[in-house]
Amino acid sequence: MILSDYHRPVLLPKVIELLKIEKDRQYLDATLGGGGYAFAIIGMGGKVLGIDLDPQAVEQVKKIAADKRIGDDKLVIHRGSFAGLKETALDNGFEKVRGIIFDLGVSSHQLDRSGRGFSFRKPDEALDMRFAGTDELTAAGVVNQYSKEQLYEIFAKYAEELSSRTIADAIVRARTLRGHINKVGELNSIIKKQLTGEERHKDQVLARIYQSLRIEVNSELSTINRGLTQAIEMLQPGGRVIALSYHSLEDRLVKQIFRENKVQRKLKIVTKNPIRADFPEIKLNPRARSAKLRAAEKI
Ligand SMILES: C[S@@+](CC[C@H](N)C(=O)[O-])C[C@H]1O[C@@H](n2cnc3c(N)ncnc32)[C@H](O)[C@@H]1O
Repeated sequence: MILSDYHRPVLLPKVIELLKIEKDRQYLDATLGGGGYAFAIIGMGGKVLGIDLDPQAVEQVKKIAADKRIGDDKLVIHRGSFAGLKETALDNGFEKVRGIIFDLGVSSHQLDRSGRGFSFRKPDEALDMRFAGTDELTAAGVVNQYSKEQLYEIFAKYAEELSSRTIADAIVRARTLRGHINKVGELNSIIKKQLTGEERHKDQVLARIYQSLRIEVNSELSTINRGLTQAIEMLQPGGRVIALSYHSLEDRLVKQIFRENKVQRKLKIVTKNPIRADFPEIKLNPRARSAKLRAAEKI
């Protein structure tokens, strides 16, 4: 994985414009990934603390930074969760932060090449889906150990999937009859047998079910809540927080947190409606299709 392998980060010019980068000021990239935003901020003269749970992402960005001769006076990299964002920032001398970016969810690299079963399009991969790769719960753990009711709840809540009950039933039946479900391909065929209609529709259901498993494995919604709350707390007055989300649950949560902080007069909303990518960007990077960007400013 090298930076040019990555899609250009979603809505990059907009993110940079909204962050209002100033020379030698401090910025946090809470979801470093391939470093797209971080290197752009550094290019504009800012200093960045980049955080990511994924050790592969962290190692690769370290390599790119070394190649580009970017030292730790410009880029500090921390492997960890943005759930501990405030402590990580303070530990690393990032006390006067002017801007924080969250690019939520899974990276193109994780989907396409991590080998961790994030995508239903990788039938041979094991059902893992852990960003950090170290926590105990994997997607296989959810699929094989959760009760029928628990599976139903995850699919209904996180995938907002109409066939949640049928799919949960089928999974429990299959694992009782055939034993452990380990691979993406096995899970796909169990789910697909429950679905009628075109392949495209079946793929959409699979994508939503995989998304729901990933949210559960990584406790994504509660983590976003913690990370954003700390980000808002630690921003300097006039500093901005930006969140890019890729599904409605994430976006609703971001909107709700921004609103609560607006009511408490801690934040001013900068984007009344979420900003979306335009057609040319979506054509180049299909992932941008579902992106919603929201920005707010600390009062
Ligand atoms: C959409 S990608 C970011 C892509 C990045 N903006 C770029 O330019 O390449 C999301 C990243 O967030 C990371 N991530 C997910 N949950 C996290 C968490 N709780 N704390 C820190 N990083 C997290 C993932 O490992 C992934 O690398």
